[in-house]
Amino acid sequence: MRYCLHSSIGHITDAMIESYAELPLDQFLKDGDRFRYRAFGRAAIKGDSIEWLTDLSFFQAKKINHYAGGFTRQAIPLGPAAQEFTERLVRDPRTRELLNAEEFEINCHQIRIVATDDEVGLPVPEGFHRDGYDLVSATCIAHDNMSGGISLVREAKVDGVESDEGDMLFERVMAPGETLYFADEHVVHYVTPITPKVPGRPAYRDVVVTTYDVSGRGGLADDEC
Ligand SMILES: [Fe+2]
Repeated sequence: MRYCLHSSIGHITDAMIESYAELPLDQFLKDGDRFRYRAFGRAAIKGDSIEWLTDLSFFQAKKINHYAGGFTRQAIPLGPAAQEFTERLVRDPRTRELLNAEEFEINCHQIRIVATDDEVGLPVPEGFHRDGYDLVSATCIAHDNMSGGISLVREAKVDGVESDEGDMLFERVMAPGETLYFADEHVVHYVTPITPKVPGRPAYRDVVVTTYDVSGRGGLADDEC
C-alpha cells in the first residue's frame, strides 16, 4: 500500500467542526505569521483501549521540518470533540486493517490553516517530506473559500534510490470527510499554499493529521532522512 482513501464523514460531529473556531494560534510560527492554529494529542492504544497521554512534547528533526524542527514543542491539548473523532478513526476497522497491529501509539494534530488577502496560508512550510512513522492519515474536516490546498503524495524513490522525481500518486484537493492514508516509508507528502478564493474574507482549511507508531521507532532521527 502506498496510499488509500476512505470516507470518515460518519466520524465527524458538529462539535468537531465547531471546535476549529476555538483552536489557539500556533505558538511556534515565525515572527508575525498567523496562518496556523493547532492542538495536539498523544495516545497509547491497546486493542479497543485508548489512553490519552499527558506528556505533549513533540519533536521533529531539523532535517524533516526546516520551519519548526530541531527543538521540542509543547503543545495545547486536543479538546473533547477532536479526541472523540480520533478515537473513532483509530477504532475504525479500515484503519486497523492498514496498521495490522493491536498495540501502537499515535500523535494527533488538529490544524486550521487560515489565509487572508494579506497572508498566504502554508499547510506545509517545510515542503515535501516524510513524517517518520509507520502510517499517517490526514482527514479533511472542512474548507471554505480556499484556492490551492492541493494534497500531493509522491513516490519517494526511483529504482530504489531516494529521488525528487518519483511518480505523483495523488494530486487533488481533498473533500471534507475524506481520509487519506499513506505509507510514510514509501512516499513523501505536501500540500500547496492556500489563498482566499473570494477576496475580502479569509480562507480556511481544517484537518486532522494522525501518525501511527507501531514499531516504536517514533519520528525519524536526524540521520534517517
Ligand atoms: Fe507531514
